[in-house]
Amino acid sequence: MLFPVVLAGGVGSRLWPLSRSRFPKQCIDLQGEGLSLLQATLKRCLPLKAAPIVICNEEHRFLIAEQLRALGVAPHAIVLEPEGRNTAPAIALAAHIAKEEDPDASLLVLPSDHAIADDAAFLSLVQTAQAEAQSGRLVTFGIEPDAPETGYGYIKAASNAPVADIAEFVEKPDLARAEAYLADGSYLWNSGMFLFRADTYLTELGKNEPDIVSLSAEAIAGAESDLTFTRVAAAPFCAMKSISVDYAVMEHTRNGCVVRFPSIWNDVGSWSALWAINTPDEQNNVYSGDVHALDCSNTLINARSRLVTAVGVDNLIIVETEDAVMVTTPDRAQDVKKIVDKLAQSG
Ligand code: GDD
Ligand code: MG
Repeated sequence: MLFPVVLAGGVGSRLWPLSRSRFPKQCIDLQGEGLSLLQATLKRCLPLKAAPIVICNEEHRFLIAEQLRALGVAPHAIVLEPEGRNTAPAIALAAHIAKEEDPDASLLVLPSDHAIADDAAFLSLVQTAQAEAQSGRLVTFGIEPDAPETGYGYIKAASNAPVADIAEFVEKPDLARAEAYLADGSYLWNSGMFLFRADTYLTELGKNEPDIVSLSAEAIAGAESDLTFTRVAAAPFCAMKSISVDYAVMEHTRNGCVVRFPSIWNDVGSWSALWAINTPDEQNNVYSGDVHALDCSNTLINARSRLVTAVGVDNLIIVETEDAVMVTTPDRAQDVKKIVDKLAQSG
């Protein structure tokens, strides 16, 4: 049995003021096409005809349940976390649930913050990956890098084959190393999507983080069912270390392989990333909403509730929502998170 496991517990603060702690980035229709990134992720899996396990923060339960309902997706479970513990514990929860249903269960782990151009190509690779996963491998999906991004994991493929062993996995290297990996030519970006058997994951996790394996089992054993929600037991859950699957498992395992995924793919992490998934006009502007602009270039304007006008500006990002306006330049787009942290501190 294959379970899509949709990780939906992040906030995505670099997309403020659209992303809010009460309305996280995976729930926003960023491209104005009628689907949030979470819904696009769920829709991508529909042909698999497998009920997903969605894992999110308790605070977002109704928002997320409503987004599933609107798409006609009946989940196997919506697992509620009282607070974020990052992805290694979240996947461990899903592994226990899936194993209980079927001891041979596999997990197709999917972040809910990605834009993928070719859903069909992805699904055909899932078939390839499933065969590898059944034989006990931890399968990653690798993307050909085109920039020294420091926000991604890097996978050194042992060969150029479409499915290759992982020679090295380095999560979020610094810029100098990312530049060296790009120049080397044998590294791929980790897309953050994984396929493995639930028992393989728990065994590999247990080698480095045995407490997460036992505490996540307790958190599920003590969970309460509430409508469609599975509310994990808070005490063991909150006792878990906060760590991502990349650091907890992928950097250490000798059992990893990478399937090359030749599609346009984007972790829509910041305002500048939105350029990459939209088609800009001839002056490289991307406008959405009620925008009237004259003689602008390299400018992204996202108007959500009011008319936004701009005249003769270059190299700007302008985001308008009902209660906040944010202006920055593309090279500072990653720093929007800092202003959000500052706002949070000032209450
Ligand atoms: N349920 C739950 N709980 N989900 C979480 C939590 C949590 O505590 N923390 C993060 N998530 C979800 C996010 O909503 C997102 O969908 C996914 O897990 C990945 O988390 P990110 O925080 O976005 O990770 P990242 O982008 O920094 O890094 C990962 O993805 C990159 C590709 O986008 C890593 O796997 C990198 O290696 C990879 O390159
Ligand atoms: Mg991400």
